[in-house]
Amino acid sequence: MDPDSSDEMVDHVVDFFDRIAPHYDAWAGGQHGRVAARLVDLAAPAKNEQVLDVGTGTGLVAHLVAPRVKPGLVFGIDLSENMLSIARARQGDGPKARVLPALGDRGDNPARKNPNVQFLGMAAEHLVFRPETFDLVTMGQALAYLADPTQALAEAHRVLRPGGRLAMSCQRRSLNTRAQDLFFQGLAPLARRHYLSLPRYSSERSRFGEPDVLTQILGAAGFEVGRLTEMVTGGRANDAREWTELMAGAGPLPYTLIRALGPRYRNELEAEVEAAMASLGDPDDAFRYHHSYVVVVARKR
Ligand SMILES: C[S@@+](CC[C@H](N)C(=O)[O-])C[C@H]1O[C@@H](n2cnc3c(N)ncnc32)[C@H](O)[C@@H]1O
Repeated sequence: MDPDSSDEMVDHVVDFFDRIAPHYDAWAGGQHGRVAARLVDLAAPAKNEQVLDVGTGTGLVAHLVAPRVKPGLVFGIDLSENMLSIARARQGDGPKARVLPALGDRGDNPARKNPNVQFLGMAAEHLVFRPETFDLVTMGQALAYLADPTQALAEAHRVLRPGGRLAMSCQRRSLNTRAQDLFFQGLAPLARRHYLSLPRYSSERSRFGEPDVLTQILGAAGFEVGRLTEMVTGGRANDAREWTELMAGAGPLPYTLIRALGPRYRNELEAEVEAAMASLGDPDDAFRYHHSYVVVVARKR
């Protein structure tokens, strides 16, 4: 078993997404939605296609795909119930829309905005679908968070039809700014100072978004990369409070750590962040962040 796929790590990740769910879509000025739109454009879903969205979260990708494949069906799967409930709420999936049993709904329920999409609690590593069910599998910003990325890619490969497409986006962390590098490097010592022992994924995951690494991972999983594009977004926080709030949404470790600090330690952290930003020398570098993504479409060989 992948050492990253311990129950403790899975709980930590799902707990993080459960807690940030209400803020996910608005984070960093709605950046997740823009990445989802780029992913869907590159994936080019077509009328009648059957689609699986792995790690669907709040359904950003699934809801963009649904009108393009209609009457084809879209299934969005995730382990975070809070993320899924936002995905369902966006669908207008109220009591009237739930009359039809989940898997028996053939997409003709008029009470729904996107009647051809279903959201299900399911692990990416253990899909219940039959082999060769889907034309397209999408995986928006999910690979690095999955308990077992290799097993999840094997499952995506299994459920795709021959020649089917896998479309994914992945954060490219090597394009982080110096300010981000400095901040994230300080997190582990900060946790130690507060006697917090938090589970972490292996550092090799931070390289998943490198184009050559992703191409190699996909190749090993039986996919051939067709199109690959990059997307760079970024901005600047005004001060240490805004910076730490933003970075808390960046992943389970910063979130848990920052939220665990009481007001006094939080003030201390912000003073340290101010000093770290000043140490960068160039005021233009202070509080500057980049969020870069690689977006790729690969075919099942
Ligand atoms: C960064 S979010 C991406 C959401 C959405 N796909 C998007 O593009 O915005 C990653 C999602 O993966 C889900 N996830 C993490 N581990 C998972 C697993 N083993 N199986 C299924 N989903 C998982 C999380 O709950 C979270 O909703």
